[in-house]
Amino acid sequence: MSQIKLSQRTKIIALFCAFAAGALVMVIAATFLMGGPRPQIAGTVTSTGTAAVGGPFRLVDQTGAQVTEAALKGKPSLIFFGFTHCPDVCPTALFEMSEILTALGPDADKAQVFFVSVDPERDTPEALKSYLSSFAPQIRGLTGTPEAVDAIKKEYRVYSRKVPLKDGDYTMDHTAVVYLMDKNGSFVAPFNSKRPPAEAAAELKRYL
Ligand code: NI
Repeated sequence: MSQIKLSQRTKIIALFCAFAAGALVMVIAATFLMGGPRPQIAGTVTSTGTAAVGGPFRLVDQTGAQVTEAALKGKPSLIFFGFTHCPDVCPTALFEMSEILTALGPDADKAQVFFVSVDPERDTPEALKSYLSSFAPQIRGLTGTPEAVDAIKKEYRVYSRKVPLKDGDYTMDHTAVVYLMDKNGSFVAPFNSKRPPAEAAAELKRYL
């Protein structure tokens, strides 16, 4: 084999390897992005026993108080990501969670619910406070700097995207999963809030 031929062959192999590596990276990225917030992640988490969801965060609640992942310790938590201008999904979920808290009765103080904004630009602590006054008083709204919100979204595999509206306003597309965290702050599974409140409350009670 001549030297020229050899170098051409090497070049072809190198090109093929670069292409294959690129394709693999894209497949991994797509798998991560698509699989993250959806229910099938629960299977992945359960089968490996590793908490792939959650992590440290630094946000503020609707009173302006700083809240970190330490707040997840001691009580089971339901965490939901959304935004106050949401037309239907968020108010419905917050209504469901309010009903679950009511169904918990005297145990309501032993569990907690967090509503994390994916729209920190509009969702100031004051905006959250006013919005959440329509729901159960135990629900804590969390917001922060865009960087802090991006960080927690990444940890919880939350997808959200700004969608411009015709009038110059915007809405947000976002993951609508309720995360059940145990009292050590570890992710358990997506929580089904779309069932009779007593049934949902009974499941939550198992983690008190
Ligand atoms: Ni929403």
